[in-house]
Amino acid sequence: MTSYKDLGLSNTREMFKKAVAGGYAIPAYNFTNMEQMQAIIQACVETKSPVILQVSSGARKYANATLLRNMAKGAVEYAKELGYEIPIALHLDHGDTFELCKDCIDNGFSSVMIDASHHSFEENVALTKKVVEYAHKFDVSVEAELGVLAGVEDDVVAEKSTYTRPAEVEEFVKKTNVDSLAISIGTSHGANKFTPAQCTRNADGVLIPPPLRFDILEEIEKRIPGFPIVLHGSSSVPAAEIAIINANGGKMKDSVGIPEEQLRRATKSAVCKINIDSDGRIVMTAAVRKVFADKPEEFDPRKYLGPARDALKEMYKGKNENVLGSAGKA
Ligand code: G3H
Ligand code: 13P
Ligand code: ZN
Repeated sequence: MTSYKDLGLSNTREMFKKAVAGGYAIPAYNFTNMEQMQAIIQACVETKSPVILQVSSGARKYANATLLRNMAKGAVEYAKELGYEIPIALHLDHGDTFELCKDCIDNGFSSVMIDASHHSFEENVALTKKVVEYAHKFDVSVEAELGVLAGVEDDVVAEKSTYTRPAEVEEFVKKTNVDSLAISIGTSHGANKFTPAQCTRNADGVLIPPPLRFDILEEIEKRIPGFPIVLHGSSSVPAAEIAIINANGGKMKDSVGIPEEQLRRATKSAVCKINIDSDGRIVMTAAVRKVFADKPEEFDPRKYLGPARDALKEMYKGKNENVLGSAGKA
């Protein structure tokens, strides 16, 4: 058993309490490799932001559980070395079984998500409760989900979203004793969230997707005031980066993500954790493709992963400062 406390990590309790009270959200950035992790830590230290390092089960298999745990330990030491101590959580994203959650808790994670949102309400309650009872013995935080997001999560593909039913949240939170709740109000996973045809154009000609269902969020908040709420599927899919990818040999579809103003609005509520994975993938791919196209003679990975890391860092800093409002909160 390796406790996250021995690695210098934090659970999410204090982070969420402060974020709900302060009207900002903690960034939860997914990572699978060293350059992404370096960029996240550099950005969060430079902006003095708390951060959740987020690992999906697929990412854990890809990168190796032991390596990831030690990378998270290294992240804590690296942040200190960079000159500013920030709270860092290591979180399992979309855990689908008790066994996986337990394995993560036993191996240094300070927070886990048990995502039984595809099951019935009763099954979701039962599985979440089981994970919570185990996790809380070790002071590990647990996130659960009510409602289903469209898009791809690991091996699960949901064609359509099912919005969270506000009438269910109170009973769910009470019965499970969970620490935070992911909800479905119109965000979706992956790089292909909305097609241009699903959007309207504003006065400046910018494509605007259907707005998030803030009415549902408000209804949820009325029933569980101040309870920590999580937004998944919150990448903004920057059009300029997609254009760089496609101008340099890529073939990504035209797609529109979640507008940053809507995320900013959400941070003013009890939404205190915002999940971003796809934007990191897009920015990294754009930077690598550009080097490959501009300097086809390069073959040293540092020459293309280095620029990708720099671009990622700038993107994360921008999110912390201008979208999530987490800058200066560590
Ligand atoms: O919500 C899903 C995350 O973006 C993780 O994606 O399962 O491909 O690692 P992944
Ligand atoms: P994006 O695909 O919008 O980045 O969402 C990531 C996510 O929700 C991870 O759990
Ligand atoms: Zn997610």
